[in-house]
Amino acid sequence: MNRVRLGVNVDHVATLREARKTTEPDPVTAAMLAEQGGADQITFHLREDRRHIQNRDARLISEMAQTMVNLEMAANPEMQEIALALHPDSVTLVPERREEITTEGGLDLLRLTDRVSPVLRALQESGIKVSAFVNADQPQIKEAARLGFNAVEIHTGEYANAGRMEVENTLRAIRDSAAAARRYGMHVHAGHGLTYHNVHSIVLIPEIEELNIGHSIISRAVFAGMEQAVREMVELLRR
Ligand code: PXP
Repeated sequence: MNRVRLGVNVDHVATLREARKTTEPDPVTAAMLAEQGGADQITFHLREDRRHIQNRDARLISEMAQTMVNLEMAANPEMQEIALALHPDSVTLVPERREEITTEGGLDLLRLTDRVSPVLRALQESGIKVSAFVNADQPQIKEAARLGFNAVEIHTGEYANAGRMEVENTLRAIRDSAAAARRYGMHVHAGHGLTYHNVHSIVLIPEIEELNIGHSIISRAVFAGMEQAVREMVELLRR
């Protein structure tokens, strides 16, 4: 079967729970149902401020998931220690600013080499595959390859937010970045802002192997149920 792998990001379920600081809805349950719906991977972002996913969620999802687990985290010593203890299948290094609503841009690898390198090495030495969340920008892709990342996750936010006149330019940047990343020998992932309506053009990019999608799936799940929402997205990822 030729299909892009789907990582379902369950952070938004935790956001709803944290709005009341209660126990429901539980992102661990969401992860289990996402797997029932056909997700290939569970993705979550353990943020420094713990605004949505908590350590308990990270631990339980890591223990219970039957598919792959992808931990999104900032490159710092605290998160490195947690990642080494949880030992997910993969880690995606992302930038983190406390005031942002979501991860608003890619990692600036050219500026952050000294911070990123030791974390990358420590994780890879323990057998974790490491991906860099970067903008669709050739110098960043080249730097990711130079640093030795296993994969890049190309930020699709600009494409998702583009007006009609800009869509083609944003797509071209993603296509060119995907092709470059593959030429450098890295795996190619993408994500951010993808929906049931805009995912098609991304699925058609041949180098892209994996998409990580959260907000749109969780939004649909509110009305359709988690398994159904995931099943519908899985169908859209067939090539
Ligand atoms: N990939 C990364 C690296 C992210 O930080 C996020 C947002 O948490 C996503 C994918 C999913 O984005 P969205 O919720 O917009 O689908």
